[in-house]
Amino acid sequence: MTLRHFLRDDDLSAEEQALVLARAAELKAAPLSRQSLAGPQVVSVVFDKPTLRTQVSFTGAIAQLGGHPLVVDGALAQIGVRESVADTARVLGRQSAAIVWRTYGQDRIEEMAAFAGVPVVNALTDDFHPCQILADLLTVNERKGVLAGLTLAYVGDGANNMAHSYLLGCALAGMHVRVGTPASHQPQAAVLARAEEIAAEQGGSVAVLDDAGAAVAGADVVVTDTWVSMGMEAQKGERQGSASPFVPFAVTESLMARADPDAIFLHCLPAYRGFEVEAAVIDGPQSVVWDEAENRLHAQKALLSFLVEESA
Ligand code: NVA
Repeated sequence: MTLRHFLRDDDLSAEEQALVLARAAELKAAPLSRQSLAGPQVVSVVFDKPTLRTQVSFTGAIAQLGGHPLVVDGALAQIGVRESVADTARVLGRQSAAIVWRTYGQDRIEEMAAFAGVPVVNALTDDFHPCQILADLLTVNERKGVLAGLTLAYVGDGANNMAHSYLLGCALAGMHVRVGTPASHQPQAAVLARAEEIAAEQGGSVAVLDDAGAAVAGADVVVTDTWVSMGMEAQKGERQGSASPFVPFAVTESLMARADPDAIFLHCLPAYRGFEVEAAVIDGPQSVVWDEAENRLHAQKALLSFLVEESA
């Protein structure tokens, strides 16, 4: 048995991602059918940034697996300020079956994983949001019945956590991933290179385009995300203002009309209607965002049970 973490999307192999997604569908149909945390074992869920869906879905997931979710307020714990990341990892790891952490730098969660001695799950960092991609893939598979070969177009901030996770996670699933983003907000080169490598192995492809229409053309899935990620609040004016470079990448009804007629629309939420997406799209017939939000629960249950069992 090897200690397993989920710090970024490619910490699962393609086969493991498929297994987790299949298990998520099983757990959605039979919510209490796996008691991987029976005892109850404690899972620490730590938030250095705001949360709604992540707190609800992880606490529900842990409870339904037979465990006890312990939510730790990062403002009280002050990880890295009051106590080092490594010391916090050692303390939490002695009393938890797993640690789930939403924080800033990817270096922080890597350090947590290095010292915890139990599985560590990335519940969003500045660089990745891999749990969200599992929920999104579950949602796409429910609607389309397949993942490999589909085209997913993400339009918006190409340098943020969602863009990076779509690149890696959808490439692993054998999809064609297009990122439509201004030239000023390109994905990290290392993430793009890794996604290209995975896509070559899995039969998909990866492209970054600075034209939203070209990115969305014929796509099976259209996704976007806020232009102001957590931690970027000081840039809100320039990112959401009328001169924002993201304005041409807003998912309007006319942009959505460029996609496949049966395309679905996803958004990790929270959404800002009138900025990255028009109300007519997110509240319209192609939107599956409420299924997507619910699927965080099922996907994370499958992930936690997989990591805990693999690491036992
Ligand atoms: N990019 C967003 C995702 C929110 C779930 C953020 O980091 O705030």
